[in-house]
Amino acid sequence: MTIIPSQSGNSKTSGETGGGRAERRPAAGGPGKVLRSEVLSARESASDQRVDLSLRPINLVDYIGQSRLKSMLEMSISAAKSRAEALDHVLFYGPPGLGKTTLAHVIANEMGTKLHLTTGPSLERPRDIVGLVHQLEEGDVLFIDEIHRLSRVAEELLYPAIEDFVIDLTSGKGHATRSMRLPIPRFTLIGATTKAGMLSNALRDRFGFVCRLEFYSLEELSKIVRRTASILSVEMTDTGIEVIAMRGRGTPRIANRLVRLVRDFAQYKQRSPVDAQLAAEALETYQVDASGLDPTDRRLLEVLIDNYGGGPVGIDTLAATIGEDSDTVEDVYEPFLIQRGFIQRTPRGRMATPAAYRHLQRQAPLTQLSLESLKAEEDM
Ligand code: ADE
Repeated sequence: MTIIPSQSGNSKTSGETGGGRAERRPAAGGPGKVLRSEVLSARESASDQRVDLSLRPINLVDYIGQSRLKSMLEMSISAAKSRAEALDHVLFYGPPGLGKTTLAHVIANEMGTKLHLTTGPSLERPRDIVGLVHQLEEGDVLFIDEIHRLSRVAEELLYPAIEDFVIDLTSGKGHATRSMRLPIPRFTLIGATTKAGMLSNALRDRFGFVCRLEFYSLEELSKIVRRTASILSVEMTDTGIEVIAMRGRGTPRIANRLVRLVRDFAQYKQRSPVDAQLAAEALETYQVDASGLDPTDRRLLEVLIDNYGGGPVGIDTLAATIGEDSDTVEDVYEPFLIQRGFIQRTPRGRMATPAAYRHLQRQAPLTQLSLESLKAEEDM
């Protein structure tokens, strides 16, 4: 597999979102602003990019988790290869850090083709798209991260490219406008987004596979931590691995970052192997609690409970109170808090669950507790 960064301005050579969201909407500043510790951010940092290259699995067999998605890809890749055709276009969606870019690398590698990496916002003008498709060869994989941020013009130019493998070029202006339809090599488009709902139906319908990436189970994340520790030559006991996996928020990018932090802590303290106590001590130092929550997550829950009586409260109000933009709260913080059952999304806004009250050692109001017991009865 060869990796080719696209030649347009904002392209990147590897990794997910690349801070794109932060560029688009800077966080609101001002009083009350809480800077999220970068330890638990699912956004990719420059150091993640460097290290991820060596940690990233390159084959499907080495890829841990997302088992249903993996078997589907295994079948489709094998079928496409036996027909000597490009794989059908794929859309990956889900929270950041779950492996969308890694899967694009794996797919290109399994297909034995080149991978071209770019992002939606960097394909603004028609010439960005034309330049990009010009580089493609038969069977190549084109990965567009943050595909929901493609400009309308770029999106419309892409339609015939992905559907019929042709590109419509126009030259001249007014009466002298001419258009030409040029064939391009058959390629596979892999789109990635944290916001599937923001994609137009027309674009979504053009993908042969639309796949949601799920948070990783504790068992899967433990395997990833074990694999990463072994690549980085960090000695860890089973319980040390489990402590890190439990605080990794179901997200490989975060779990791998925690491994690196624990490694540094152990090295600084000259202690080895990393056992449960050492791992917990290290992560407490970085203010990552036993459920993987950092100070900003806890602040979010505190605000929800203390300022708004547990909700329901609108996402914009909640985000403004902690000094974040609502997009970041919605895409980066909230998915994990919802998945862990600390926040509930209701039509009237976000609500703290009894689990959130317990986590912060607050007394839940009776209405919350009766909701929980009603739910427990329903589940029986
Ligand atoms: N490193 C990051 N994500 C991984 C995964 N899903 N499997 C193996 N190693 C990984």
